[in-house]
Amino acid sequence: SRTLHLAVIPGDGIGQDVVAEGLKVLDAVLPETVRVETTGYDLGASRYHATGETLPDGVLKELQSHDAILLGAIGDPTVPAGVLERGLLLKLRFAFDHHVNLRPARLFPGVDSPLAAHRADGAAPGGPEIDFVVVREGTEGPYVGNGGRLRAGTPHEVATEVSLNTAFGIERVVRDAFARAKARPRRKLTLVHKTNVLVHAGHLWDEIFQRVATEFPEVTTDYLHVDAATIFLVTQPERFDVIVTDNLFGDILTDLAAAITGGIGLAASGNINPSGAFPSMFEPVHGSAPDIAGTGKADPTATVLSVALMLRHLGLPEEAARIESVVAADLSSRPGAAPRTTSQIGDALASAVAG
Ligand code: IPM
Ligand code: MN
Repeated sequence: SRTLHLAVIPGDGIGQDVVAEGLKVLDAVLPETVRVETTGYDLGASRYHATGETLPDGVLKELQSHDAILLGAIGDPTVPAGVLERGLLLKLRFAFDHHVNLRPARLFPGVDSPLAAHRADGAAPGGPEIDFVVVREGTEGPYVGNGGRLRAGTPHEVATEVSLNTAFGIERVVRDAFARAKARPRRKLTLVHKTNVLVHAGHLWDEIFQRVATEFPEVTTDYLHVDAATIFLVTQPERFDVIVTDNLFGDILTDLAAAITGGIGLAASGNINPSGAFPSMFEPVHGSAPDIAGTGKADPTATVLSVALMLRHLGLPEEAARIESVVAADLSSRPGAAPRTTSQIGDALASAVAG
């Protein structure tokens, strides 16, 4: 038997609501041979107001000893923009070297989408109609905080936000994306960048992509500028299988990807350190939605799907697949049915995975 040591950071707003349901489903899906031991960490806006801390070193160190982290949502209007984002969420991604930010986008049958008419090439009957995954680089690009402001407050003020791209950082995420593409039925990988303008970083990405491609002859490759990619995500989403891209492009594209696959309430993500040197962290893509916190209106599905990503990462693929198929069935039963609260959805999913 095995024990999973899971750190839980519910965070702010609806983070609390959805994480409770994710844990319910986790408990229900695990076989008797796998135990889960959770430790909760109160990080986020209330901790910041009470102590001025976002992520104390001692907590970071404790988190490090866990097998994985489940995070709800971070952010509150009472905290200045950027404080919790940089001081907590991005600090965790950087400290634990989460260089693969994995964001699947699937349009399940029955789910409303502005693009519901689209069908993936060769989609299995009853399977997702749009089905791709974005591998977003998670530790470099314009997110590193490399920049500054000169001549502050004068009409000649200058602000820079320098994008950092290392050959090491690009190669490891590109390699990961090729391996993921190779393991999927369609075996296609699209690099998204902006090589016609960002000639320094763009060409480095492109060169490394081409070089790694020679090691994966079974994977079909493609390249799109990021602006063109936004067009095709709307007009031809079925052309995508795996996308690999820079941190900021990936941030933007994955909100668009969520919008075409049922909305942000369904979008799951994993901040993954594939080496296992540090715990990976799983979180819904959505924010803390403080206006509906505690009302029962939040959809816990994105968190439940993030738990599935976590189980796959932890070597429990059957349990992950069971959660995903139960979610797909639940989604297809929603049209025309009475709306349910956060915990009603969680209860339904938990009893379905258990049964
Ligand atoms: C996301 C979010 C974060 C990001 C913010 C909150 C820092 O938008 O996870 O996509 O930009 O990565
Ligand atoms: Mn985002």
